[in-house]
Amino acid sequence: MTKMLDFEINKMNCTRCGQCVADCPARIISLSDDGYPAIVSEKKGSCYKCQHCLAICPTGSVSILGIDPAGSSILAGGYPNPDELETLIKGRRSVRRYKDENLDPALFQKLLDVAWHAPTGVNSRQVRFTVLDSKEKVAQLRDKVMAGLKKLIKEDALPKKMESYANFVRIWDDHNIDIIFRGAPHLVIASAPMTVPTPEPDCLIALSYFELFAQANGVGTVWNGLAKWAINDLLPETRHFLGIPDDHLFGYAMVFGYPDVHFTRTVQHSPALIHRAL
Ligand SMILES: Cc1cc2nc3c(=O)[nH]c(=O)nc-3n(C[C@H](O)[C@H](O)[C@H](O)COP(=O)(O)O)c2cc1C
Repeated sequence: MTKMLDFEINKMNCTRCGQCVADCPARIISLSDDGYPAIVSEKKGSCYKCQHCLAICPTGSVSILGIDPAGSSILAGGYPNPDELETLIKGRRSVRRYKDENLDPALFQKLLDVAWHAPTGVNSRQVRFTVLDSKEKVAQLRDKVMAGLKKLIKEDALPKKMESYANFVRIWDDHNIDIIFRGAPHLVIASAPMTVPTPEPDCLIALSYFELFAQANGVGTVWNGLAKWAINDLLPETRHFLGIPDDHLFGYAMVFGYPDVHFTRTVQHSPALIHRAL
C-alpha cells in the first residue's frame, strides 16, 4: 500500500514553491533538505489519493499514483461562465416525457464518466452506477416490477403508505402509461458500500452531478423515488436481479433519455430559506 503512492517530482521543472505542501489535506508532504517536496514513508498510508498535489502544481511537476500530469485538463479559462451555470441550475426540470430511442452510446458513457468525478467523503470513490443502457432493458425491469407489484396486491401485502402503487399498476395495464419509470429509456442507480464513511451523500452528489451534466447535454432526467421504493423496499429481489451488491446502500435511482418536451423558461421559486445564525 505505502509503495503504491508513486509520489514523483520532476526536479527539472519543480520550482520548489511549496504549493503541494500547503494544499495537501492530509498534511503529509514536506520539503526535504534539498527543497523538493517528498512524502516520508511512514506518512504514505494517510494519503487521501485526492491528487491535489498534482492538480495544484503550476509547472506540472508532481506525479502521484503513477499518474502523468500531462494527461490532466488545463483549467484556466475552462469553466462555464456563472450566468450559464445559473441558467442550467434554474432551468433544469424533471423530464417525464421521453423520446422512444436510446441515447448515443458514447454520450451515455460520457455522462457516467463525468459524474464519476463527483466528490465522495474521505475520497472513498466507491459509488457504483448500475445502469440500464437500453429501453429494452428498462422494459424488462418494468415487466418484473409490475409483476412483483401485482403479486403484492393480490396477496394484500402492499404496505398502507405504498398503496398508490396499485394505481400505477392499473394505469400501466389500462393505458400503457408508466408512472413509475416515466417511460424513460434508461435508468441509473447509484449505490455504495455501507462501510464507506458517507455512502448516501456520495450517491446523491454523484446523481446530482449526473443530472446537471446530462441536462447540459440535452438529456432529460428525473429523480426516481418511485423506482427506488419499488426496487429497494417493496421488491428487494429486484436488487438481486439488477446485481446490486447486498452490502451496498441503495443511494437513489434516476431515469433519463432524450426529452420529448421542451421548457421555454425557468419556473419562479419563492425566496431561498436562509437562516443567518448568530
Ligand atoms: C429525491 C427525489 C425523488 C423524486 N422522485 C420522483 C419520482 O419518483 N417520480 C417523478 O416523477 N418525480 C420525482 N421527483 C421529481 C420531483 O417531483 C420534482 O423535482 C419536483 O416536482 C419539482 O420539479 P422540477 O424538478 O422540474 O423542478 C423526485 C425528486 C427528488 C428530488
